[in-house]
Amino acid sequence: MSEKIIQSLSYTSLVNAAHPLPATYIPPDLVDCGLPFDAPPGDSRRLLESRTAMHAHALFMAAHRAGLSLYGISGYRSYERQKKLFTGSPYVAAPGTSEHQSGLALDVSCPSVSLELTEAFSVTPEGCWLTENASLYGFILRYPKGKESVTGVPFEPWHIRYVTKSLASYLHMTGLTLEEYHLFSSE
Ligand code: DAL
Ligand code: ZN
Repeated sequence: MSEKIIQSLSYTSLVNAAHPLPATYIPPDLVDCGLPFDAPPGDSRRLLESRTAMHAHALFMAAHRAGLSLYGISGYRSYERQKKLFTGSPYVAAPGTSEHQSGLALDVSCPSVSLELTEAFSVTPEGCWLTENASLYGFILRYPKGKESVTGVPFEPWHIRYVTKSLASYLHMTGLTLEEYHLFSSE
């Protein structure tokens, strides 16, 4: 596959196998997201890009108000950490090609599925709520069911990506993936 290395990252950038981040890319403004999280204070998994963290906070507060219990599982991942985790499984992106390196992505889960990253999360009240409401806070479910051949990643109901409220609403309404949006907007 031909690669186009990302030179400058924005909130709407596409990060995937064809559009990798440089190995040296570290988001300039990582912060502890301050969310309920399945990782102890100080763990790098709790880090998110600052604006992403702010919007994730609003998302989690809204879920809490709806009587739901979301937990963060994995936010920022360095290139080196992704390299260590990479096994060749389609659920783990190759180093440089993971949105987690951008600081704009967060894996979430809930207690009723033991905080696991499992397809069963999609049918929990939290998973259903997330599907309907994530876009109101600027997030998309990045790897939806039925779009595996477009994203190159299996259904991951737990992986959300901050793309701004306007783009998230557009993608939610149209059902387009970020890949399709970039393809159509470059025509
Ligand atoms: N699970 C997604 C594809 C990642 O590793 O970034
Ligand atoms: Zn993820």
